[in-house]
Amino acid sequence: MNDLLLRALKGEAVERPPVWMMRQAGRTLPEYRAVRAEAGGFKDLLMHPDRAAEVTIQPIDAYGVDAAILFSDILVVPEAMGLPYNLVEKVGPRFPETIRSRADLDRLREVDPGTDLKYVLNAIRVILDHLDGRVPLIGFSGAPWTIFCYMVEGKGSKDWTLARRMLWEDPQLSDALLSAITQATKAYLHAQIDAGVHVVQIFDSWAGSLSRELYVQRILPHMHDLLEGLSARVPVTVFAKGGSHFLKDLSTLPCTTLGLDWQTDRRWARALADAAPGGPKVLQGNLDPSVLYANPGIIRAETHRMIDELGIQRTIANLGHGLYPDIPTDHGRAFVQAVKEYAPATEQETTTSA
Ligand code: CP3
Repeated sequence: MNDLLLRALKGEAVERPPVWMMRQAGRTLPEYRAVRAEAGGFKDLLMHPDRAAEVTIQPIDAYGVDAAILFSDILVVPEAMGLPYNLVEKVGPRFPETIRSRADLDRLREVDPGTDLKYVLNAIRVILDHLDGRVPLIGFSGAPWTIFCYMVEGKGSKDWTLARRMLWEDPQLSDALLSAITQATKAYLHAQIDAGVHVVQIFDSWAGSLSRELYVQRILPHMHDLLEGLSARVPVTVFAKGGSHFLKDLSTLPCTTLGLDWQTDRRWARALADAAPGGPKVLQGNLDPSVLYANPGIIRAETHRMIDELGIQRTIANLGHGLYPDIPTDHGRAFVQAVKEYAPATEQETTTSA
């Protein structure tokens, strides 16, 4: 078993950082598109355990990463709560119904993951069976705020005005919706852990739309609620994209790892993670995914600079957001290879530069 990721997450001394890429499953790989075409559509694919397992495992061979991430989507939770979505080709997710009032909220259901999200749990079992211990499996969900954004707006948005408006216009309704999402997500993540995932990542993709004060006062308590009890079971990563203005507040959460976006200063984040109240945090990140459009020589140099700045220990090498759909497979491979070949500056180089 390649347990490099799990050792790094325990804070054990490792020879190099483990590496995987957000959005490594799907998107760029031609072999993904073939399975997707066979399945019919995106949702058919993720509701079919054998096919979901196949595309989860593809990147292990295609890129040589040290972890698999479950092929699914964060939007399965709002759907299980009673708000179905469609993924419209080249447009993105669309929810025919949204939550704008107390009456809308009252129509939502309590989620029982064993029935409502059974297809995901079945996929996890098939994946673990097929992985046969090659690499650990990462489960995931959206964070309460990011799911709230989609449930209120019904589609992607540049600055989530309707969702932010609801926070101010109707604090009680927005808090009730955040609580409902948190409870559903908590049950879902516990079910993923029961099914065998080794690590869990919580994607707060739209954290950057909020001020520090608002995030701390209105969202962070729900994050605490979500994480409580989870992090005692498996290592948990919190990735709050655009949230470096409250990274210090995030470092108070009972999680193992903080995910960094590419805008975040690495040395500053490391100092902050080392000083976290519950003990040092692992950092995951944060190469700008657009670096992967450069030639492999530049990809390698930028990846090595990233590890120089983050350090080898308590680091998980990754991108600062998901892989873009048109990044060539061999450029993704160059990134992974660069991490595997990382060697810290030799003693001689260190003396010369000193
Ligand atoms: O990381 C992985 O490879 C595992 C699978 C995964 C998907 N979505 C598959 C997917 C994960 C972890 C996600 C998370 C997700 N989904 C997030 C959080 C991460 C982030 O990017 O910030 C968000 C915001 C979503 C919502 C979502 N799903 C959007 C906006 C879209 C549309 C377009 C796109 O590709 O980003 C999706 C669809 C989606 N989810 C695809 C894949 C592979 C594309 C489906 C296809 O066209 O075949």
